[in-house]
Amino acid sequence: LDNGLARTPQLGWNNWNSFGCEVSDRVIRQTADAMVSSGMAAAGYQYINIDDCWSTRNRDAGGNLVADPVKFPNGMKAVADYVHGKGLKLGIYSSAGLTTCAGYPASLGNEQRDANLWASWGIDYLKYDNCGDHQGRSGQERYTAMRDALARTGRPILYALCNWGHDQVGTWGPATGNSWRNTGDIQANWNSVMGILDAQPGWAGFSRPGAWNDPDMLEVGNGLSDTESRAHFSLWALLNAPLIAGNDLRTMSATTKSILTNTEVIGVNQDWGGRQGNRIVDNGNTEVWAKLMANGSVAVVLLNRGGGTATVSTSATQLGLGSASSYSVRDLWAHTTSTTGGSISASVPAHGAAMYVVSGGGTPPGSGTYSLKGQGSGR
Ligand code: DGJ
Repeated sequence: LDNGLARTPQLGWNNWNSFGCEVSDRVIRQTADAMVSSGMAAAGYQYINIDDCWSTRNRDAGGNLVADPVKFPNGMKAVADYVHGKGLKLGIYSSAGLTTCAGYPASLGNEQRDANLWASWGIDYLKYDNCGDHQGRSGQERYTAMRDALARTGRPILYALCNWGHDQVGTWGPATGNSWRNTGDIQANWNSVMGILDAQPGWAGFSRPGAWNDPDMLEVGNGLSDTESRAHFSLWALLNAPLIAGNDLRTMSATTKSILTNTEVIGVNQDWGGRQGNRIVDNGNTEVWAKLMANGSVAVVLLNRGGGTATVSTSATQLGLGSASSYSVRDLWAHTTSTTGGSISASVPAHGAAMYVVSGGGTPPGSGTYSLKGQGSGR
């Protein structure tokens, strides 16, 4: 969506993956504090997003949504003011149906009223779910109605569609939202992360600045091992996915913090060379994922999905780099640089990944529309 927002994938946090319905003024303020003190804000994270269950069970007599007075005793504008005071932005949640997934009132038929209310509170981001009675209206129609309502508020509000890849959202999502979910919900286990990953290749053709495929929020530090968390973060970065942390920032380990604040990996996520990353080699348990960077280098993730250590390899040629006597290989997790004559190989632990940026050999031919071998044309 060309509304000036999400020109690079949005970076932030959302309460759902770790707090579910237990969201509150206190959690949001403490998370805003932690986003700054942890170094996440400095690394680029900006949005603090409230998910389902923030409102009362019914609209007020005037038809407006009301923040739950127990969870948000100071109202929502006070929360927005606090978050803005930290230099951050606040997100809210609703659904393109009559109710949210947890049964709270949602916005179908009340798009302008709700958008106006959020704008008056100082909301900067809307996650718009797909639960509740759709009143027989198509996904495109329901999500477009909210897009237009948000635009009419005059406030810049990032618009994140959450319709789980339904209704062929690839065809209308890019003109409707700043991102769109393309799968069901992620869970904090390796199989779920890999299942979502497997759905991504067909979507690669739809994303562009302002409009991103969203493979769902991060489970980094949420029960995945540190090795799994690194792999998950590497892959989501390569996919130009919105990086929305889902762990409790107030209590995260030093390792989790170092994963989420790896600015070299975030740099790959925020770079646009004309196409999001995609799988170029699938050897079963081991895979190679690659993405052209704007400067002609190639970011690569060597993935080991299996249960034992494995050697995963690729080459400058396979990555589409031009021929050269040597290439530079930047290791984005070890933060070291080495050179190679062309082969790139790593011993990767079980459920792990190595991530590099390989440069040299000049800009690959036709880099703006560079299509890595094996990439589908999208669906
Ligand atoms: C379904 C969404 O996909 C989740 O991310 C979360 O927002 C829940 N609904 C909330 O009910």
